[in-house]
Formats: sequence, structure tokens, C-alpha cells
Amino acid sequence: MSTKILIIGACGQIGTELTHSLRKIYGTDNVIASDIRKLNNDVVNSGPFEVINALDFNQIEHLVEVHKIDEIYLMAALLSATAEKNPAFAWDLNMNSLFHVLNLAKAGKIKKLFWPSSIAVFGPTTPKENTPQYTIMEPSTVYGISKQSGERWCEYYHNIFGVDVRSIRYPGLISYSSPPGGGTTDYAVDIFHKALSDKTYECFLSSETKMPMMYMDDAIAATINIMQAPLEEIKIHSSYNLAAMSFTPTEIAAEIKKHIPEFTITYEPDFRQKIADSWPASIDDHQAREDWGWNHKYDLETMTKDMLENLSKSE
Ligand code: SER
Repeated sequence: MSTKILIIGACGQIGTELTHSLRKIYGTDNVIASDIRKLNNDVVNSGPFEVINALDFNQIEHLVEVHKIDEIYLMAALLSATAEKNPAFAWDLNMNSLFHVLNLAKAGKIKKLFWPSSIAVFGPTTPKENTPQYTIMEPSTVYGISKQSGERWCEYYHNIFGVDVRSIRYPGLISYSSPPGGGTTDYAVDIFHKALSDKTYECFLSSETKMPMMYMDDAIAATINIMQAPLEEIKIHSSYNLAAMSFTPTEIAAEIKKHIPEFTITYEPDFRQKIADSWPASIDDHQAREDWGWNHKYDLETMTKDMLENLSKSE
């Protein structure tokens, strides 16, 4: 019997690429994509798609029953910058969608669950460099508070109810095929588009703001790997630190300049600077590497080259 998967939030930055990768592995008909609206895009047109509100338990339960779903990937969320503008809705969406899927797993209606956490669980009092898995966590953003609470609930549901929920603290994610959706790390995607179209970019963070980042190919591989790992390899049931590279706007601009020599960057920090300043600069992820064999492929140099090549084809 093949595994049947439901992706909630399939049209977002991660969901789009995750849907394609999971369909390649498990077969198109076994991967049901869903989102709050039906866009005319690849995800919708390349296989089964359902309109769903992640806040509606009955809708999710109905889909799980109709499609005999085994595993859910819950990718719907409000990210850091958007959440600051609408705290009540961010808390509602980020927490209650998680409770819905945790409760479906608790009731035995699904077998396994993926839920993304973030570097936003850390805060200004956390050690900034090589941030450990276990450390001071006092998130100061709405998004970070929701992710930190979510992690506690995941661990609780695992310990008390035996729910198989797996999670990664994603760093900033960089991709060419789908736009980011309202995060503080989005500059590292925008910069590529503007470098190609305008040869110049005005950055909303200051020049030396160093943050942990990852190319989407690596993030998708990590997501699928942690979900496919035997349960006994998963030692952390809150969420795993995960890292690939760390850089500043100055450093990524210099890397882009190697390909587009006339490229220039200017800095106009806005409210997102404060969010970025509260997050780690680099992450210690040895536990993910030891427990379930995590290994990244892309660094700043190879990611920049691949981004520019792929975006040049499409722009
Ligand atoms: N990339 C996300 C954000 O900036 C962090 O998880 O909100």
C-alpha cells in the first residue's frame, strides 16, 4: 500500500517545491495539495488539489477521510514580518492549524505529521553564534512566540499521546521557483530578482546583519529525510536545529557581483531590522546530522550560481 500525503499550504514558498518533490517520490495521485485558494499554478494543475481552510478542523478531517491520508505536512502559516502586522490572526492560524493536525494524529486518523519551526524561536537573549539546540529561548516576535509554543505542544503530544510529529527549525529559505511570503529573511530572495532586473537593490536590513540561510533544495531534502527516517532515529520531538550557511547582505551582494559586476546595493533598514537583530547569526545543527544523517549541499557560492542561472531562464 502506498503512502497518501496531504500538504496544507501547498501554494506557499516551501509548499510549492515540496509538492513537486513528494509527487515524484510517492506518485502524483498519492499527494493531495491543498491551500486556502485555488491559484492557476503548477501545484494546482499538476495533480490532485483541494481548497481548504487550515483553521477548519472539519474540512481537514473530511479530506483525511475521503483521501485516506496517512501523513500531513502542515505548511500554512503567517511568517515573521506579516505576523507583526496582524498578531491575533497570526496566533490563531499558526497555533490552531497545528492543534487540528495534532488532534487528528492523536485520534489515530493520520500516522505521521510534519510541522515546520524556525530560527525565530530564539530571541535577543539567546547566544548568537553557533546557537545550540538547547539554550535560552525568549522569542520577541509574534511568529517566534507561536513557533516556540508549537514546539512545546509537539513534544507534549509525542510524550503524552505518542503522536509521531517531526519538525525542523528552518533558517531563511532561498528559492527561485516560488516567492517568499512575508518573512524577515526575504531580502535574500528579492536581491536576486532585483540584481537581474535593475542591477541594484535597496536592502531592508543593514549591511552587517548576519543570518542563517539555506537553499530550498536542501530544505526540501531535509524535510523529506526527517519524515522518512525510522522513528527511533528521531531523538528530538520538539524541533531540530538545521543549518547550511550564514551570510550578511554585504557578503551576498559581493557574491552576486562576481556574476553581475555592475550590481550595487544600498541599505534602508525598516521594522524588520529589529526582528533580524533578535535572531541567531549561525546555528549548531550537529544533532540533526548525527541523529538522521542531515547534510547540506549548497553554500553561498553554489546557491548564488544556481539562483542566477535559474532566474535568468525565467525572467
Ligand atoms: N524565514 C522566516 C521569516 O523570515 C523565518 O522562519 O519569517
